[in-house]
Amino acid sequence: MARIGILGATGYTGVELSLLLEKHPEAEIVFISSEASAGQELSSVFPRLAGCDKIRGKSLQNAASCQSVSVDVVFSCLPHGASAEACLPFVDGGARVIDLSADFRLADPALYPKWYGKPHPRPERLQEAVYCIPELDRAKVRGAKLIANPGCYPTSVLLPLVPLAKAGAVGAGPVIADSKSGVSGAGRKPSLGTAYCETNESISAYKIGRTHQHLGEMTQQLARATTGGLPLIFSPHLVPMERGILTVAYVPPAPGFDAAKVRQILSDAYANEPFVKVLSKAEGLPATGHVAHTNRCHIAVAEMPENDMVLVVSVIDNLVKGASGQAVQNWNASNGWAETLGFGA
Ligand SMILES: NC(=O)c1ccc[n+]([C@@H]2O[C@H](COP(=O)([O-])OP(=O)(O)OC[C@H]3O[C@@H](n4cnc5c(N)ncnc54)[C@H](OP(=O)(O)O)[C@@H]3O)[C@@H](O)[C@H]2O)c1
Repeated sequence: MARIGILGATGYTGVELSLLLEKHPEAEIVFISSEASAGQELSSVFPRLAGCDKIRGKSLQNAASCQSVSVDVVFSCLPHGASAEACLPFVDGGARVIDLSADFRLADPALYPKWYGKPHPRPERLQEAVYCIPELDRAKVRGAKLIANPGCYPTSVLLPLVPLAKAGAVGAGPVIADSKSGVSGAGRKPSLGTAYCETNESISAYKIGRTHQHLGEMTQQLARATTGGLPLIFSPHLVPMERGILTVAYVPPAPGFDAAKVRQILSDAYANEPFVKVLSKAEGLPATGHVAHTNRCHIAVAEMPENDMVLVVSVIDNLVKGASGQAVQNWNASNGWAETLGFGA
């Protein structure tokens, strides 16, 4: 069994991780952190965790005091900025660290201040991190000590777009990724923008165009997958649901490509992937509810008779495939285990 610590266990991704690791046969949880609830049991903050044997009887500790605990693996569910500072002592101590925050996703030190509005706390350590969506890059994560777990929106955008970009199926002009996210994407920390009366019965666009911080991560990964990268416009929306992301990517097809060929490229790319399903034309379009509480991504391609755009729709659960589930999948992949280990059927 691996000795595991969870930094930020009282956040939405931390809770999801506790639920996933409870079922994982190789996971023993040795510490869970919180600043605001230090000293309490996690189930007193989240009563739904009362049935989790692996955390029962363990008190939440503040992140600084966790550093003296001997662990094999640390999952960091902390906000960006705080996460890098808290993770690196564990890396230096020999543990494998899987960071769910954005702190190690951008390899170029100049990009972090551009997208996150402040200097990176340890820019000299960025090159150590391995960014990995396992379906796209699993060979890189094997044995990695510091794993940058992808963001939720980027996962929903890159899973459909990277195989298309690699196949040369994307034509001239920007790809538009239009995404809708549930409110848990903003985390548990209270804010006016995510308060019930602000979000209920209302949909809002925010940081649209080329302003959302996840655009940096998406364009970095599309540049790695292609020569020259792909121009991308990204328009996120907040919708009144707890969890889930639905993305529609408007893709200008390269000459010779249409919806049927795009569907075939994606079907071939994910034919053997347990967590990604490309729907047939007859199966129609996916919905966030089809993948809620799972580590799955469902992708569909819509027909357009004019063929001036190919529309690719993807859905994930932001807290599972977009965060904690993918982190466990990355942990499995880093060990060379079956990536489905611990996920049940
Ligand atoms: N939510 C998503 O859908 C999602 C998806 C992908 C990635 N992520 C990323 O994953 C990370 C966690 O997201 P989340 O939604 O779970 O956030 P969250 O609900 O706000 O939880 C944050 C956690 O970090 C702790 N924390 C806050 N400030 C801290 C500090 N300065 N030092 C130490 N601990 C601190 C909080 O503990 P206390 O408040 O109990 O002290 C809490 O346990 C973030 O970096 C986020 O960007 C989130």
